[in-house]
Amino acid sequence: MPPLGAQKAVLFVLLGLPLGLLGWDVWGELAEPGSTLGPDPQEAMLHRLGTWGLRFLLLTLAVSPLARLLRRPELVRLRRQVGLWAFAYVLAHFTVYLTLLAGLDPTVLLGDVYKRPYITVGLGALLALVPLAVTSTRGWQRRLGRRWKALHRLIHPAAIAAWIHLLWLSKASYQDAIVYGLVLAALFGERIAFALRRRAAKAAR
Ligand code: HEM
Repeated sequence: MPPLGAQKAVLFVLLGLPLGLLGWDVWGELAEPGSTLGPDPQEAMLHRLGTWGLRFLLLTLAVSPLARLLRRPELVRLRRQVGLWAFAYVLAHFTVYLTLLAGLDPTVLLGDVYKRPYITVGLGALLALVPLAVTSTRGWQRRLGRRWKALHRLIHPAAIAAWIHLLWLSKASYQDAIVYGLVLAALFGERIAFALRRRAAKAAR
């Protein structure tokens, strides 16, 4: 296996790629309107950032199960970076909404939070991720001790809220919501099975 630093560098490039490609398309769109982002560039940006945010959120949740499945506990050391990228995409998704759709008008945001449940639940997911991003450093991990792990379990309700957000906003087709929902259910299922196995092993000792 390559050293951890190299693994992290490759991961950084891979996870940043969708953002880079989007930046490239925005550049193309500015140079020639209608050329790269379709008829509604704002929607296209919003959708691409939201989709990658959700995918990387699920990938963050998949790191531990993958490490267990592949018997490579060191993979867990890459989880922080995946989580931070997920947060960056979601934050960019929200920023596009706030600037291009809501026109930086807080009353539009508040109106949407009140009228559109999928916005309310999406905002809930984003807010739940904020303390996780802030306390993701080693310093915070040391300072919070056991509470750090408990706090970082917030990723579970955040992922569920993000999925409900997608389910609620789906109009023409539920295909994406079903696929992401099945992935989420599989990830939670693995966690529950692991916790039960661990408890049984403890009881047997
Ligand atoms: C963890 C947080 C979030 C995740 C993972 C997420 C993810 C997504 C995804 C996957 C989509 C659908 C993309 C598609 O169909 O191609 C979407 C759409 C959208 N999201 Fe989010 N989102 C989050 C938070 C938010 C927040 C905080 C807001 C605004 C306050 C927001 C506003 C929207 C809007 C306006 C749409 C488009 C709805 C439509 O097409 O009618 N999202 N989001």
